[in-house]
Amino acid sequence: MHSTFGMLIRRESLLRCMAESTGQGVGRDELATLKLLALDGALDESAKVSCADLAERLDASNQTASRRLQRLEDAGLLARDIVSDGQEVELTGDGERRLQSEYADYRRIFESDASVDLTGVVTSGMGEGRHYITLPGYMEQFIERLGYEPFAGTLNLELTAESVRKRARMSAIEPVTIEGWEDDERTYGPAYCYPASIEGSDGEYEPAHVIAPERTHHGEEQLEVIAPEKLRDVLELADGDEVIVHVSE
Ligand code: CDP
Repeated sequence: MHSTFGMLIRRESLLRCMAESTGQGVGRDELATLKLLALDGALDESAKVSCADLAERLDASNQTASRRLQRLEDAGLLARDIVSDGQEVELTGDGERRLQSEYADYRRIFESDASVDLTGVVTSGMGEGRHYITLPGYMEQFIERLGYEPFAGTLNLELTAESVRKRARMSAIEPVTIEGWEDDERTYGPAYCYPASIEGSDGEYEPAHVIAPERTHHGEEQLEVIAPEKLRDVLELADGDEVIVHVSE
C-alpha cells in the first residue's frame, strides 16, 4: 500500500498536467448533456437515448448532440452501446464524480454548513507519511496554519466504494492550503488539509485533517489523516478497524 500523499507530491509537474488533461474537450455543454443523461436515469443503470430527442432537449442539432456524446465517451465520463433504435448510455465512475463535483460547488454556493462523512478501514502504508509530514517546509506551515504540530505520520484509510464516490463532495469544504516549496534538490507540491473529526468504536477525536495533494477529486480509495496525536493509540485502532471521518468546516 502506497501513501497517496507521498506518491503524488513526488510526481513531476509535467505528469500532473498530463493527468489533468484527461477530460479534454469536455466543457460546459458536455457537462449539461451529462446532467441531462443523469436526470434520465443513466447514473445507476443504462438509459436509452436517441440523438434526435436529446438534440431537441438540448436545443441543438442532431450532429451537435451526437458530438457531445462522443466527447463524453472519449473523456471516459460516459459508456455507450449502440443499439438498433438509438443508444444505451451510462455514466462511468468518473462521470458521476464530475457531477458530484458540480454538486459540491452548488452546495458551497448555497449551503454554509457543508460536511461529508466518509467511512474507511485502517490500513498500513509504507512509512512514507512520517517522512513527508516531518519535512520542515511542511511542518512549519502545519504548525502555523493548523494550529498544532501533527504526529509524525498519516493514518491511512481505505474508503468504502460509497465513500469513494462521496469523496468529491469534499470540494464543497474550504481546505487549509499548505504551500509547495523547494530545496536544493527538488520541489514539493502543495497539500490541502480538510478539517475533520475521526470517529472510531471507542470515541471521537478532533482536531484532525484529511490531507490531500491536490484539489481535484479523482476517485481515490485512500484517505490520509493527520492529527496532533497518534490516532491508533488514542482511538485504539488496528488495521481493519472501521472509522468514520466527519469532514466539515
Ligand atoms: O505509512 P504508514 O502507515 O506505514 O506510516 P506513517 O504514515 O509513517 O505513520 C506511522 C504510524 O502512525 C502508522 O501506523 C499510522 O497509521 C499511525 N498514525 C496514527 O495512528 N495517527 C496519526 N495521526 C498519524 C499516523
